[in-house]
Amino acid sequence: MSALPFSKISAPLNALLAVVGLMAVAALTTPDIAPRSRLALEVLLTGIWAIYVLQLIGTLNRQRVSGSRDGMPGIVIDVLAVFVPLSAFLLADTRDQSLYCAVWLLKPLRGSAFFSLLGKVLAKEARNLIGVTSVFGIILFAAAFAGYLIERDVQPDKFGSIPLAMWWAVVTLSTTGYGDAFPQSFAGRVLSGLVMMCGIGIFALWAGILATGFFEELRRRDFVRNWQMVAAVPLFQKLGPGALVEIVRALRPRIVPAGSVICRKGDAGDEMFFIVEGSVDIATPKPVELGPGAFFGEMALISGEPRSATVSAATEVSLLSLHSADFQLLSSSSPEIADIIRKTALERRSAISKT
Ligand code: CMP
Repeated sequence: MSALPFSKISAPLNALLAVVGLMAVAALTTPDIAPRSRLALEVLLTGIWAIYVLQLIGTLNRQRVSGSRDGMPGIVIDVLAVFVPLSAFLLADTRDQSLYCAVWLLKPLRGSAFFSLLGKVLAKEARNLIGVTSVFGIILFAAAFAGYLIERDVQPDKFGSIPLAMWWAVVTLSTTGYGDAFPQSFAGRVLSGLVMMCGIGIFALWAGILATGFFEELRRRDFVRNWQMVAAVPLFQKLGPGALVEIVRALRPRIVPAGSVICRKGDAGDEMFFIVEGSVDIATPKPVELGPGAFFGEMALISGEPRSATVSAATEVSLLSLHSADFQLLSSSSPEIADIIRKTALERRSAISKT
């Protein structure tokens, strides 16, 4: 049997297999599990392992045939997913063998766009994150130091040394509050309150840095993708760099499956579309097909009248849409392009009135 179909296991299926496998591992740690259930879970783990073997063979095969498509981390994860449980089966204590399948936790990372995004954000924000983490460390040590000085005589078992007081400081700074260690003196309680407030501030800073990092990275990706799409529309090649940046920000990408209606005759229309890839059918009395580089939907946008025809996707079509407010922006930054669009709208209107 060819291993290739298994090599293309998608990230969600990888995650599902890993979750099922890890639940089986967790169930196997239950002390009073019945022997038949144990056997069934072990067969399940062996089945998942066999799928991972085929996936590894497929990955290596694809690597050999078509060059490097899976990055190095993907291959390392595939190798670990097979060889760590295999080595455990051969070498580890019987009771612990299945625990080594925990390496499958890495599988969902493989090919997942989210984790690569997270990696980029962490790398980009590393300096700020390290800065806030340093502040966390400083406050943690200072809190443990102060807690030790204030409470050491009152509660020597909980605050008798700085390492002991450090546990209280972590729990308080993270505002977890297990309740196993807390100051009894008035000064100690004031200190606790201050440490908690610092903790809230530090976590807010961490969250803020990460949220901004994600937002900027996603915006950058959108910009790069839009830029490539805009470059595929000849009309925009007339734009200067400033106007190009504006239009890239204003356009919204959209993929429409074949056969779907994009706009219907008689509807109100406040956006127009540029075709990047694929083609659309315009249901005029004499049907027209428009392909890459063409635009449609400009008539309703300019005149404010209802759509003159129904437009549907002849093939899967990749579009960039422009809203009326952004069309005004385009008109002022690049009157030449706006004139072309207006002229085309007039020509199309006179073609409709002739039929
Ligand atoms: P609108 O009227 O907003 O919505 C339907 C669109 O179909 C219309 O804008 C034009 O962009 C397009 N359209 C209408 N008639 C023609 C035509 N004869 N040739 C090409 N496109 C057309």
